[in-house]
Amino acid sequence: MAPKESEIAGGYKGVSRATTEKHMKQKINVGIIGLGTVGSGAFRILRDNAELIRHRVGVPVEVTKIAVRDATRDRGVAIPAGVLTTNPSQVIDDPNIDIVIELIGGYEPARELILAAIARGKHVVTANKALLAADGAEIHEAARRAGVSIGYEASVGGGIPVIKALKEALAANRILSIYGIINGTSNYILTKMTEEERSFADVLAEAQRAGYAEADPTFDVGGIDTAHKLAILVNLAFGAHVNLKDIYTEGITLISPLDIDFGKVLGYKLKLLAIAKMHEGGQAEARVHPTMVPDDYPIAKVAGVYNAIQIVGNACDDIMLYGRGAGSMPTGSAVVADVMDIARRQILIEPSRRAQPPLLELPAGNATSDAALALQPMESIVSLYYFRFMALDQPGVLAQISGILGRHRISIAQMIQRGRKQGGSVPLVIMTHKALERDIQKALVEIKSLSCITEDPILIRVEGEEP
Ligand code: NDP
Ligand code: HSE
Repeated sequence: MAPKESEIAGGYKGVSRATTEKHMKQKINVGIIGLGTVGSGAFRILRDNAELIRHRVGVPVEVTKIAVRDATRDRGVAIPAGVLTTNPSQVIDDPNIDIVIELIGGYEPARELILAAIARGKHVVTANKALLAADGAEIHEAARRAGVSIGYEASVGGGIPVIKALKEALAANRILSIYGIINGTSNYILTKMTEEERSFADVLAEAQRAGYAEADPTFDVGGIDTAHKLAILVNLAFGAHVNLKDIYTEGITLISPLDIDFGKVLGYKLKLLAIAKMHEGGQAEARVHPTMVPDDYPIAKVAGVYNAIQIVGNACDDIMLYGRGAGSMPTGSAVVADVMDIARRQILIEPSRRAQPPLLELPAGNATSDAALALQPMESIVSLYYFRFMALDQPGVLAQISGILGRHRISIAQMIQRGRKQGGSVPLVIMTHKALERDIQKALVEIKSLSCITEDPILIRVEGEEP
């Protein structure tokens, strides 16, 4: 008979204690590489919740080595003597370390360090979505061959358990769609610009001070971090590798207070959304872009550093996961949960009774571009659209613009022209009915070339019902 979960968990509930005890280690040793925002959160949780963690895992979990770049930096946490090093090899090569936590971020040396840890038979926990989105297949295949686990709950949604939800709790479903706010920094910026009318640069600096932003914040505001996370989610949800370059990615750098303001007037909030859908017939779509979301949609109310991920499964229907999407302790919480899970399911149990690999996993093998999930081209999506044109305030302008839209089968649902400025330019906002992206792009090129248009037009996709 298969063991119960309570029996697998280190046997501390007693039923299978006799069977597991002789295989049980007395302690789980953990090495951390990187003690910045997330590393220090994970370290604090392992220290402050040590007794609770010992009880739930069955044995103590102890951090025995931490590698950083600068050993003299004050990190606001007391590190026991002899634990800190500036040489990551001291973590990777330590035969007593069972689990290596990689929290330095970026591609190299993170990739090499993770592969070296796997080669030495160590389980790995990481929050590195950039690396997983690019090289996840290679890392997972190396881990599979070495018989070790990769925990990456912290890579998407900070403290939100979305990876576990997709891998385990929703495993019986065919996933139909994922909609989400999955970058805390961008949502923080858009929220503060909307609610406090503060400048983009000012709020970005605040998000950086809070430790939310990536080392290179253009990843956050350029939508790239969202695309990395979407690639990981799509992989789990649709069971196939996706090429990052195939995910249409647009960030929030061109968003101006003017568009936030017009959005308010029209009843929408501006959000950076990650959208993935699996259509009938197996055509998938995955895209990241600023989106106007109706005020009364739950996702419109997700503010600040909070993330929300709506998953639709063919059996469970709608699920909404919500929580802090970045920051030291929430992300540390996901990291430590992975450590505990690996300790219970992979280390503290005899090999024959170890948990099978998760039901859904990144595809094995070095997925080539041929094996990647084919994504629907952006030009074939259908959406509602918001346009803002800066146009000379003169007769005939509206007729020229609406003429071009009409010729491209784009029908106008609403229009706002604000202010009068004889000889100067004024904003002209148009909301469309549902239209094809290809038609929208062709119309934009034509409108942009009109002599009455004084700036590059702004185009924002709109979610919701036909206005
Ligand atoms: P930080 O920049 O705050 O910390 C990075 C840490 O890595 C620092 O302690 C740094 O050392 C150390 N480090 C960098 N390079 C090396 C190296 N070659 N050898 C040893 N140590 C090194 O990053 P975060 O904690 O913000 O991010 C870590 C990871 O977590 C990234 O992959 C990020 O994308 C991800 N993540 C971050 C979240 C957040 O809210 N910040 C949320 C979810 C995921 P030193 O301190 O000496 O400079
Ligand atoms: N920079 C990321 C964000 C960190 O702001 O969401 C969490 O992944």
